[in-house]
Amino acid sequence: MKKISGFENKTVIVTGGAAGLGRGIVEALVEQGAIVYAADINEAGLKALADSVPTIIPVKLNVTQQQDFQQVIDQVLADHDHLDIIINNAGIGLAGDFNDTPMTDLEKITNINFWSVIYGTKLAYTQMIKQGYGHIVNVSSSGGAMPVPNQSMYSGIKHAVLGLSHSLREEAAHYGVKVSAVLPGMVKSDMWESAVNVKDYNLKNSMENTGLKPISARDAAEAILHGIIDNNRSIIFPRINRITLCLYRLMPNLMTRLFVAPLARPTTEAS
Ligand SMILES: NC(=O)c1ccc[n+]([C@@H]2O[C@H](COP(=O)([O-])OP(=O)(O)OC[C@H]3O[C@@H](n4cnc5c(N)ncnc54)[C@H](O)[C@@H]3O)[C@@H](O)[C@H]2O)c1
Repeated sequence: MKKISGFENKTVIVTGGAAGLGRGIVEALVEQGAIVYAADINEAGLKALADSVPTIIPVKLNVTQQQDFQQVIDQVLADHDHLDIIINNAGIGLAGDFNDTPMTDLEKITNINFWSVIYGTKLAYTQMIKQGYGHIVNVSSSGGAMPVPNQSMYSGIKHAVLGLSHSLREEAAHYGVKVSAVLPGMVKSDMWESAVNVKDYNLKNSMENTGLKPISARDAAEAILHGIIDNNRSIIFPRINRITLCLYRLMPNLMTRLFVAPLARPTTEAS
């Protein structure tokens, strides 16, 4: 990866840093000279990452636990006195008919994909206001800016992440703090395979059936690093995703009829 100036000696927390997109971001940041706290619930994944990138600081963190965020922020401050960047990336997939989805799964994805972002954002923000600088980067999705049937809860939460990030960005600017949202298209990772599937839904198959080619986590990470340095409001990639989201903003009804509605696959037995 080419040099992207601006990351040398920056302190960065990356949640979900042990695998997939998060791991790509961690590796890219280390290459750019950042001091990276890779935070994840998956200790084996963290160990494997630390074996291949020994300069990372692995931290066990469950994003559903507020105190885990406070602990990692305290650790960064004890080591370096300041926190430059937090990347709230950890997340899971949930796919299938909304009506058939158990309430416990709706709560689970809300805790992992949304409360995580609230905790990470709020606690980092308080510290960054004290500093007068810092950058909060929240990973949403292209499904956070347009509907995704059979992933209604995932998409709903990603819309919430986007709304929180864009709204806070305007408040935060008054304190010198930056906020960006990331809207990736399809990224190669294990997320589809490890997603919670409702009934016989298979997220991996349905994503593969779109015929779209996912980009690598490292390419995604590079786009994110450039977006951070440019302080983009929304970091959107790859290019096809920028075009799709732009067309959806301009023609939501037509785009929904052509591309969104055909994806819906109800599984509830009608009585
Ligand atoms: N893969 C894609 O196509 C895609 C597209 C758009 C957005 N995203 C978003 O990118 C982010 C990363 O997804 P990914 O594809 O790399 O997934 P992944 O499954 O490969 O990695 C997710 C990481 O989050 C960690 N994690 C899960 N639950 C956690 C918890 N409770 N506490 C701490 N860590 C936890 C996992 O251990 C894993 O290391 C997610 O927010 C996802 O919604 C992914």
